[in-house]
Amino acid sequence: MHEVHPFKQGQKDCIYPHTLAAMRPKVCGLALLYQDAYSGPRNRRKHMLSIIVAMTDSRVIGSKNALPWRIPSDLKRFRQYTMGKSLVMGRRTYESLPHPLVGRHIIVVSKTARAQLADVTFVQSPEDALRVPRRDTELIIAGGETIYRWFLAHQSIERLYVTRVFAETQGDTYFPTITMEEWHREHRAQIMQCAGDTHPAQFEVWQRNVL
Ligand SMILES: NC(=O)c1ccc[n+]([C@@H]2O[C@H](COP(=O)([O-])OP(=O)(O)OC[C@H]3O[C@@H](n4cnc5c(N)ncnc54)[C@H](OP(=O)(O)O)[C@@H]3O)[C@@H](O)[C@H]2O)c1
Repeated sequence: MHEVHPFKQGQKDCIYPHTLAAMRPKVCGLALLYQDAYSGPRNRRKHMLSIIVAMTDSRVIGSKNALPWRIPSDLKRFRQYTMGKSLVMGRRTYESLPHPLVGRHIIVVSKTARAQLADVTFVQSPEDALRVPRRDTELIIAGGETIYRWFLAHQSIERLYVTRVFAETQGDTYFPTITMEEWHREHRAQIMQCAGDTHPAQFEVWQRNVL
């Protein structure tokens, strides 16, 4: 798999750390997330469970069943990292999507049984989400809060793709606190704000320590 690095220095519609010096992140409880080119063969495992999330340093992930920011560059990244994979999300997050996530298999958790759609499978519990037959090797947990909480409490998540959003925004849903000693950061991209982004953001990837 080739490496993807969509936010290279010099891209004209992005600004970089020297112009964002005043926005330097505070040390946050959960250092977070994402990797620009997380594709090394040694890192591939069968049936890996990952989480993808964008959050502020106060752990805010949502407000009124929507994202409290608009960061097209992060949506682009989300698309790249989830393409061809299966995503698990709660019913509320699914209903908040502005459009279908083409090219991905969406597994929606809801206590209410629903008719299955092409590329969307409804299951009645998070456990059932794990039993859905898949051909991909990485199952990505895509929120919201209740789904993140369940998987972090009941499953061994191996990888976190985290977008740190440098916003002071208020919210009503949060990413759970995790024990940082159990994780190490494998990648941290530069802080940047591209054209159309309401806030600067930084992408990181965290991997669970091998015991
Ligand atoms: N920043 C990010 O990266 C990110 C990512 C995803 C979502 N979000 C935000 O997070 C917010 C939504 O989070 P949320 O916690 O309110 O909702 P959610 O987790 O998306 O969905 C909750 C729903 O999932 C179903 N569910 C959850 N746990 C279940 C269980 N154990 N068994 C059966 N069904 C279960 C239930 O659906 P039924 O009521 O149908 O039974 C429940 O109402 C939104 O603001 C969204 O924008 C942010």
